[in-house]
Amino acid sequence: MRSLISWAWLGLLSTTAVADSNLTHESRNILSSAFSPPKHFRNVNLVRNINLEKSYPKETINVVIENIDKAAQREYYIPFEQGSLGQIGGLEVVDKKEPEKKGFAVDVVGINPFSTTEYYKITFPTPLPPKEQLTLSITYFVLSALSPLPREIQQTDKQYVLHKFSAYAPSAYTTVKQKTKLKLPTTDVPDAVTLPASLNAEGKEDPQKQGTSYTYGPYSEIEAGATQEVSVRYEFTKPLTHSKLLERDIEVSHWGGNIATEERQWLTNRAATLKNHFNRVQYQQSSYYNPPTSALKEMRFPLVVGSVDAYFTDDIGNVSTSRFRTNKKEANLELKPRYPMFGGWNYSFKVGWNGDLQNFLRKVKGGDGESYVLKIPFFEGPKQAEGIEYERIVTRVILPEGATNVHFQTTLPIISNTTSLHRTFLDTIGRTALTLTAVNIVDELRDRELIVTYDYPFVAKFTKPLTITAGIFAVFVVAWVVGSLDVSIGRKEGKGKKVA
Ligand SMILES: *[C@@H]1O[C@H](CO)[C@@H](O)[C@H](O)[C@H]1NC(C)=O
Ligand SMILES: *[C@@H]1O[C@H](CO)[C@@H](O)[C@H](O)[C@H]1NC(C)=O
Ligand SMILES: *[C@@H]1O[C@H](CO)[C@@H](O)[C@H](O)[C@H]1NC(C)=O
Ligand SMILES: *[C@@H]1O[C@H](CO)[C@@H](O)[C@H](O)[C@H]1NC(C)=O
Repeated sequence: MRSLISWAWLGLLSTTAVADSNLTHESRNILSSAFSPPKHFRNVNLVRNINLEKSYPKETINVVIENIDKAAQREYYIPFEQGSLGQIGGLEVVDKKEPEKKGFAVDVVGINPFSTTEYYKITFPTPLPPKEQLTLSITYFVLSALSPLPREIQQTDKQYVLHKFSAYAPSAYTTVKQKTKLKLPTTDVPDAVTLPASLNAEGKEDPQKQGTSYTYGPYSEIEAGATQEVSVRYEFTKPLTHSKLLERDIEVSHWGGNIATEERQWLTNRAATLKNHFNRVQYQQSSYYNPPTSALKEMRFPLVVGSVDAYFTDDIGNVSTSRFRTNKKEANLELKPRYPMFGGWNYSFKVGWNGDLQNFLRKVKGGDGESYVLKIPFFEGPKQAEGIEYERIVTRVILPEGATNVHFQTTLPIISNTTSLHRTFLDTIGRTALTLTAVNIVDELRDRELIVTYDYPFVAKFTKPLTITAGIFAVFVVAWVVGSLDVSIGRKEGKGKKVA
């Protein structure tokens, strides 16, 4: 099976010059493992949209489902092959007719390690009675999905990428009627696998093309687990920016009235690699025209209004090719990496800024002490027109010393959470740190909030000033000098605040 795909792949590699190369297509069924979800439903009508305008495909499946069992049912399964489930991110399901309502509970069900299929289990808030229908809207992103083909290009060449997928939507149930619509970034699409008209419910040429949209199907009566491998290859002369890890620290200081954010990024560009060495002269000549390129040249961070003291450093040190504009309406950090980041290249850096704690923290009535609600973005990172995908995001919220009873809430799927003590210089007992990990996230989810609630007893507020007063004065002076070093970018507006 796998070898068949790689043969198809090799075939493609050697015939990229041929417009209508012989792409193979293949049908099979992925529900072969021991566990198979009970066949309580059937999909009456399904429309799947695959949006390929960004560096990660976004799929939206709108499906009318019907309970064909004798009893009311509330668990609906979506199958993914074991390898591909690890690439799925941000899967969310809502009732299409009430999209503003809270999404349904979603869990990954890893059936057994030898199984080739894993499932997402969707749980409805109320069971669906027999013969009743429900319209689900399922969305998710597929990470590391696009492969540049050819894999090597010249510095100024266009880039083409290949996307392989099944023309049938993933389903654990029989689907009566379905189609898959692709939205491509341009009309430059040298290859799209053609399926035999005999598979098509209307006996039409498959796919149907209209401008940048390609439609596979309609297909009728497709059995559970059936897949129909197809692929498209299209122009995408943009970076395929992939973050292997984003570490984010948020440090809350009640005493200083400050919230300090630092983000550390490990980026790689999955784009086509350069056939020859990087030619800086040619690059600078062409950059005058600002042509499309698969290199990552700049990043824009729209920050929370009121952010100040931004800095940008990499392994070498302060990077001066950046701009930070902050005023009453916006706070924008624009970064240029030290070098344009071509396919296969890595770049790691850190950025940070300060904010006024008042804009993020609210005091609420608590028990014996005082309780607080902190509302912050779960992550920020760059916001790119072509998108950025994240393999892993680790967000750490460092609360003041003595904070207790820490709880959190976020709509991003969290795979782990821990609360620990984070001890730094001048701390006595150590600060309470909440660490949250999320995987397979894309920049489209950048505005998701993280809400942290905690108690902070009145006496704890005075622990810090007392510690410092009692501490060695010289140490304090050194800390003050170190803390006052100015590594901010551009003109400073507002008072620079440092975390104690
Ligand atoms: C495509 O397939 C036909 C027959 O199915 C074969 O004659 C032809 O050589 C193939 N072309 C390529 C580029 O593989
Ligand atoms: C870092 O670079 C910025 C230019 O963007 C400059 O304003 C700032 O003074 C530099 N900081 C240090 C410590 O060199
Ligand atoms: C980028 O990082 C990966 C490991 O994450 C490494 O395998 C690769 O060689 C690096 N690329 C370059 C050009 O250093
Ligand atoms: C935090 O992690 C624990 C297990 O370590 C888990 O039981 C709990 O549900 C998690 N909380 C949230 C809100 O995810």
